[in-house]
Formats: sequence, structure tokens, C-alpha cells
Amino acid sequence: MKRFNIVPRPNFIKNLGGYSACRSIKKELVSDTALGDEGYRLTVEKNSVLLEANTEQGFFYGEKTFEQLSFCGKIPCAVIEDKPRFTYRGFMVDSARHMQTVDELKKLIDAAALLKFNTLHWHLSDDQGFRIESEKFPFLNEKGSWRKGDDFGARHTDIPYGGYYTKAEIRDIVSYCAERFIEVIPEIDIPGHTTAIIHSYPHLSCKKEEIAVKTKQGIFDDILCAGDSRTLDFLFELLEEVVELFPGERFHIGGDEAPKKRWEECELCKSKQLALGLESPEQLQGWLTAEITKFLEAKGKKGSVWNESLAAGNLPEGILVQRWMDPKNKSTIWANRANYIINSDFYHYYCDYPYHMTPLKKTYNYSPIPKGVAPIMEKYVLGIECPMWTEYVYTFDWFCYMAFPRFAAVAERAWTIEARCDHSSFCERFEALMPLLRSMGINPAPSYEWNPTPGRRLAGTLGFFKDKIDFKTITNSLNSQKN
Ligand code: ACM
Ligand code: ZN
Repeated sequence: MKRFNIVPRPNFIKNLGGYSACRSIKKELVSDTALGDEGYRLTVEKNSVLLEANTEQGFFYGEKTFEQLSFCGKIPCAVIEDKPRFTYRGFMVDSARHMQTVDELKKLIDAAALLKFNTLHWHLSDDQGFRIESEKFPFLNEKGSWRKGDDFGARHTDIPYGGYYTKAEIRDIVSYCAERFIEVIPEIDIPGHTTAIIHSYPHLSCKKEEIAVKTKQGIFDDILCAGDSRTLDFLFELLEEVVELFPGERFHIGGDEAPKKRWEECELCKSKQLALGLESPEQLQGWLTAEITKFLEAKGKKGSVWNESLAAGNLPEGILVQRWMDPKNKSTIWANRANYIINSDFYHYYCDYPYHMTPLKKTYNYSPIPKGVAPIMEKYVLGIECPMWTEYVYTFDWFCYMAFPRFAAVAERAWTIEARCDHSSFCERFEALMPLLRSMGINPAPSYEWNPTPGRRLAGTLGFFKDKIDFKTITNSLNSQKN
């Protein structure tokens, strides 16, 4: 066991030798530019523990470090001076495909706070369900929050699945996060991944026909109609209701995986494109995104989108772009043009793929700055995020098994400078902290699962594809990225 079992690894530790008998912290508010908004200095001596910070958030992180330090038994004497590498340290929870209970979310939030994450990206609307209570649009809950069963990969049930978070529950989660210095960024994915919305209000699609809430994963042709003025009216009304629940700065409006088949056939969409003088349906998506962003800005919010939204070439400057799969490196160009991005690279940071495909070492050793970002523009990489999509992740134990330790690895890469990052040191430190996570109701994958040997890796990957994933979906997804 290491002397300092802390995740994320602090950026500076001076070992003073010996152990402290003191368990109470004396806090001192300072004005020390070296610590920044989130940093802290923790001085553990034989008979005293002093915590210095410029802000309450800095104190909070110092306390989290002390919690880890004292959990592992004797408290080593040291000076720890620490602050994060990145401003944005996010984890994403998909509650659309499968929901988590409020208690489960709180367990995740506690674990995330322990790891010094500061952003929960909460994916709340998709083809398989709408999860926010709406008083203005009751069908979103009566119809759009329910599906007939599950058909994800090899798993089939005919048991109706659904539900939504009430406004009171959402407020509870948001304030639980705020107490832990975590901003909640809600996501309503627009204009694609909107089957649940269209099921509730079919006039919002191009074909104006009712379609069932999806029971399987995938990318679907029916998306919101950009040419029908009722779509923006609806979205503005809905956002007006939803932004009230989320006091944070950002709002995610999706924009990923929106096939343009319907828009190419729809008279309303074609006329809208023509009237606006736009060259393509992609640009029509850019226009729609810009309209929604303007609306959000008037409400004091900033928009975030997935990287496909850059395909239009007419995205408003300043919007935060989340890179996940970007073969044309449009997000890199976006950062090089002095616009912020965050990196949640599919091959490294997506935590819903088994360890055979995304071993811990692959996640940990990946550089958070995407290739192609010019060194002087690296500051436009605001941070990183680990998404957990839940098509296959339908129990909380499975969620935790998939997320831990990979969430912790991403937390460390988000906080700790490159020179202090080391995969084997991380594994040792994380393993020492596993009992603490277990005591919080989080059961990580056992260490022998984290980095499967090459033979097991291949067998596991093939097995996973055979049993769980429908190849067509993956291939379509990859092809849509290439175009
Ligand atoms: C995504 O994974 N479709 C953002
Ligand atoms: Zn249309």
C-alpha cells in the first residue's frame, strides 16, 4: 500500500515523514494566486492539520483529499499543494435509456465529488424515453416517458419500461450537486434522438405520424421537423420550463446522429432551407442550433452540442462543442479558432463498452488534448468527460462495474498534470480506495477485469459483439460519421 492513496493524484506532495494524531482540520481563507479558484494547500503535521484555500470549493477539495488520506489508516504528515489541470471535469449519465433512482444518482454524485469532478452532464431525452416532468406538455410524460419493453442487443423484455424525474426530484439532485460543487448540465437532444418527443407530439416530425418510443438502440430517421414553425415554438416553451430547474451556466442541446433523410423529403424543411438561403440540410441544423442557442443566451445560458453539429459549418461562435467521434477533426479546428471544446473520445472515454474493448490502461494513457490542437490553443480544451450510455447498462451495479475505475481514471486525467500521471500508480491507489467506494454503495470492477490480456481481450470483444450489439447500428453510426 502506498503512503499517499489519493485519486486524483495531487500535483505536489512534500512528504514530512511520520504520522499525524490530529483528525480535525483548521481552515484558513487565503488570497493566494498559486491556488486558483479550485486549489488548496493541506499541511498535515503531527499535532495539526491546516487547510488553506481561496474559495469554499478549494476547501471542499482539500477535505476530499483529507478524507482519502485518513481512510487508509494512519495519516501521513505532508504538505499537499494542489489545483486542477482542467476547468471542466465531467461525467455523463444517460437516464433516458435506463433510469437510475434518485438514491443511486446521489451515490454516484458522492463518488464523483470524492474524485473532484465538477460537472454532471445529465442525458434526459432520447429515442427511448423522455425523463423530465413537464406541466406544459403532459404527453411527454404520459406517452413519451414509456416504452413497450427492452430490445437492446440480445436482451428482450415485454415489460413496459418508463418513468421520469419529477421537478422536485430534479431540484433535489441539482442542489445535492451544488452542495458538492458540481454543476448539472441537462441534455435534451435536438433534432435527432427525439422519438420520445415525436411519439408524444407527432406534429413535430416531418411525417406528422405517430411512432412508438424505441425499445432498441440505434439512429433513427424520424427527427424534429425544422421547417414547421411549431417545432421552435414547442422547443422554446419546453426549454423555458426546463431551464428553471437548472441554475447552472450550460445547457446541452445534443445535435448528434441526426440523419437528414426526412428533411430532404419534407416540403416544409425544403422551403425553410430555401427561404433562409441555406445550401444543405446540415446548414438547416446549424440554423436550428443557432436559434436555440440565441434563446438560451437570452435566458442567461450557454449552449453545448456534440461535434456533429459542426458539420453545418455555420455554428454560432462560442458554443461549447463536445468531441466524441470526429474523423474530420472539425472540433480540433473549432478549438484552433479560439472556441471551447471538451473531449469525451469514443474509443477511450466511453465507459459503456466492456473492459475488453476499452481497457483501463487505454482510458488512462490517452492524452486529453486531441491531436491537432495547436499548443497555443490548448487552453480551448476546457476539459474532459466520461460518458455512460445505458442501453445495456440497466442495473446500478452494472453501471458501477463499468464506470469504476474508468470514471476515476478520467477524473485523474482531468485534475492531475501529465507529468504526475502514471497508470500503475493509479491502479495501486484506486485499489486502496475501493473499500471507501464500497462503503458509499459503489462496487467497482475487480482489478483483474481492468486490463484483460490480449487473448482475453479479443475473445471478450468478439463475444460482446456477437451477443450484445447489433452490427448494423455500429456500422451505420460509423458511416454517418464518415459522410
Ligand atoms: C453519441 O455518442 N451519440 C454522442
Ligand atoms: Zn420537415
